[in-house]
Amino acid sequence: MRIPKEGLPKEQVMAGLQAYKSYDLDWKSGRVWAYVYNPGDETAQVVREAFTLFLTENGLDPTVFPSMLKLETDIVRMVANLLRGDERSVGHVTTGGTESIMLAVKTARDKARAEQPHIRQPEMVLPQTAHAAFHKAAHYLGLRTVVTPFDPRTFRAEVGAMRDAITENTILLVASAPCYSQGVIDPIGEIAALAQESNLLFHVDACVGGIHLAFMRQLGYPLPDFDLSVAGVTSISADLHKYGYAAKGASVVLYRDKALRRYQIFSCTDTTAYTLINPTVLSSKGGGPLAGAWAILHYLGESGYQRMVREVQEATRRLIDGISAIDGLRVLGKPDMCMFSFASDAINVYQLADEMKKRGWYLQGQFSTALSPRNLHISVNQGTVHQVDSLLRELRQAVDAVRRAEPLDSEYIQGEVGRFLANPSPEAFAQLAALAGIQSDQLPDEMALINEVLDALPDPLANEVLIDYFNDLYV
Ligand SMILES: Cc1ncc(COP(=O)(O)O)c(C=O)c1O
Repeated sequence: MRIPKEGLPKEQVMAGLQAYKSYDLDWKSGRVWAYVYNPGDETAQVVREAFTLFLTENGLDPTVFPSMLKLETDIVRMVANLLRGDERSVGHVTTGGTESIMLAVKTARDKARAEQPHIRQPEMVLPQTAHAAFHKAAHYLGLRTVVTPFDPRTFRAEVGAMRDAITENTILLVASAPCYSQGVIDPIGEIAALAQESNLLFHVDACVGGIHLAFMRQLGYPLPDFDLSVAGVTSISADLHKYGYAAKGASVVLYRDKALRRYQIFSCTDTTAYTLINPTVLSSKGGGPLAGAWAILHYLGESGYQRMVREVQEATRRLIDGISAIDGLRVLGKPDMCMFSFASDAINVYQLADEMKKRGWYLQGQFSTALSPRNLHISVNQGTVHQVDSLLRELRQAVDAVRRAEPLDSEYIQGEVGRFLANPSPEAFAQLAALAGIQSDQLPDEMALINEVLDALPDPLANEVLIDYFNDLYV
């Protein structure tokens, strides 16, 4: 494609965009149980208007755009209050959970560089249930990840294993509130005590759930303490673009105090251009996500969020009960909020996800680990609560359909993977990708076979396959 020689009429441009949208699953229907957090049309319209009002402003320089500083400090204060910080708590608005996590890791790294220069290879200790963003941060920032097991019954971090994993190179402990995969909160209090006793920083990843959990607590749901009220938690992240229902591009990272946050900030004057002083990763920083987040926090208020949280929790309870009652399916662990996953010993859940997708539903496949089975993930949000009964009905039908269908030959696939591992070569690798149905430059319709092969491969090789695939998929 080339840029058209002459500009097109607005109607034609918008029609082109609408046509692309039609490729997507219809998230507005409430049948997509991941990726999208929909507060309903009226509230979404408020976010949209706020976003476009600040479409052009630039957070790069608060002396030119004091509005951006005001928006950011207001949002940080509101979230710090929700997550029970005190007057010393500080933070920033970032573009998402990954950036918030990346910055918390950078802060820990740079504090260690300043105070413990003898550490050459800094390490962070994290349970296997922690989000991949920590691995990405380690990859970008030169840390080593030390992954510890979780309790396979509860999916909570094993604190003893974290204790055993600490070495003289450890600079950071990590836990989730909750983890994405099974929606359970790690034993934050115990890990915080371990961090204090070991004189380590401790980041709580409340990216997906922090905002929702804070309103659950206000409503009196029984919850463990997970936030800045716990001594020993030195930083925490919470995304507004998830259960804050803001537009994508809005998360908050909070630190216990300014002395720690200082390590996050980057400044550079050694250039012919303007002085660059960036607290977060981005330099030019759009005002839209900040304005959208500011607007929804004010528009819904505590009572608006509480109403949604109550409805979402009620829907989650009905879903968990309903799924547990379907013969052959079982919910993993005891989810603390509105995200959970389920597995099956009777059918292939990847085939079940494909069967549901044919019917217009999206349930997210998650791989097995040495401690847990493959499973399907569900995140309930305000935009999906009205679909609980339909989901349960169609899930029952889809389970029956998978039982009747030809099962995937897992043994054959594992055999092929085993043969490849015994004798790896680029050709064999290509054959393996072909067996999985991975075709360069095409999006797959069905995921079961691909997931089956990826799940059977050791993680480093699965990552190689995926990187090659994306390298071909995009121009
Ligand atoms: C617990 C947790 N942490 C971090 C992230 C990464 O957030 P983002 O996709 O906004 O970068 C997610 C995303 O779902 C998450 O669930």
